Amino acid sequence: MELVFDRVTKQYKNKIAVDRVSFSLKKGVYGLLGANGAGKTTLMRLMCGILKPDSGEIFYDNIKVEEESYRDILGYLPQEFGYYPEFTAMDFLMYLASLKGIPKKQAKKKAEKLLEMTELTHEAKKKIKTFSGGMKQRLGIAQSLLNNPKVLVMDEPTAGLDPKERVKFRNLISKLGNDRIVLLSTHIVSDVEHIADVILVMKEGRIIHRGSLDEIIKVMDGKVWECTVDDKTAENLMENYLPLNIRKEQKGTVLRLVCEERPVESAINIEATLEDLYLYYFSDTGQEDRTI
Ligand SMILES: Nc1ncnc2c1ncn2[C@@H]1O[C@H](COP(=O)(O)OP(=O)(O)OP(=O)(O)O)[C@@H](O)[C@H]1O
Ligand SMILES: [Mg+2]
Repeated sequence: MELVFDRVTKQYKNKIAVDRVSFSLKKGVYGLLGANGAGKTTLMRLMCGILKPDSGEIFYDNIKVEEESYRDILGYLPQEFGYYPEFTAMDFLMYLASLKGIPKKQAKKKAEKLLEMTELTHEAKKKIKTFSGGMKQRLGIAQSLLNNPKVLVMDEPTAGLDPKERVKFRNLISKLGNDRIVLLSTHIVSDVEHIADVILVMKEGRIIHRGSLDEIIKVMDGKVWECTVDDKTAENLMENYLPLNIRKEQKGTVLRLVCEERPVESAINIEATLEDLYLYYFSDTGQEDRTI
């Protein structure tokens, strides 16, 4: 089980959305992390064979993703999903199952199971137009699993989910990753921090880093500092360095910031988080040109 991107490029008019991207994914959960416009949706649509690359190739084992047989093993949750407001949740799943060529009896059983899994059993006969954002999202997750896909691509799957639903979603995904390739995109660090085996950091059409959480945040080692200073010094430091967190306390302003060298005498090195890395790479304060 292997999905391979080989020097894949996709351009829209004058915008290169995916720029010579190569990687390979095996069984497990992968988190595609990047800011708005990084190219996540474009990369996922390429991976689903919906968009054709301008150059490069994408394979699953020996099948090209544009081939018909790839559809059978693919599950996709698009970022913007076209729901049919007059359909009930069950009708909707049955309809999509028929498009995927799943026999009716089998589809009914699977739909019931998926509605249960996404806690929509009681809403099965309600029209989608009466659903909340989170309920629609859960229905979207359910439909992506109808054909028990070997490759599961989910574009911002946690959008609209409340914290409780997010935790449930994480548990579901970690189970699903045991015997398939799962790729999920997000710009929310905590979504991938705990469930992705491997994180792919995407910026301006390129994968700028790939690795486990530990490997990825290692690049921040020795660069994250905390210090307690007076207001004037704090202002000064914030102008010159990238602030990650600011907290007012009785003893002064506690600043967490990124810089290569000790910013003030009293600063101490602290352990970096994935969020620190994200801010470091995606902040607009002149860090854009940085590459790992
Ligand atoms: N159909 C299109 N026509 C022209 N430009 C596009 C089109 N779709 C995307 N783009 C541009 O390509 C770049 C990548 O877009 P994409 O939607 O892949 O990013 P994203 O990482 O999914 O962003 P978001 O987090 O906002 O969903 C952006 O600059 C976007 O403006
Ligand atoms: Mg997107």
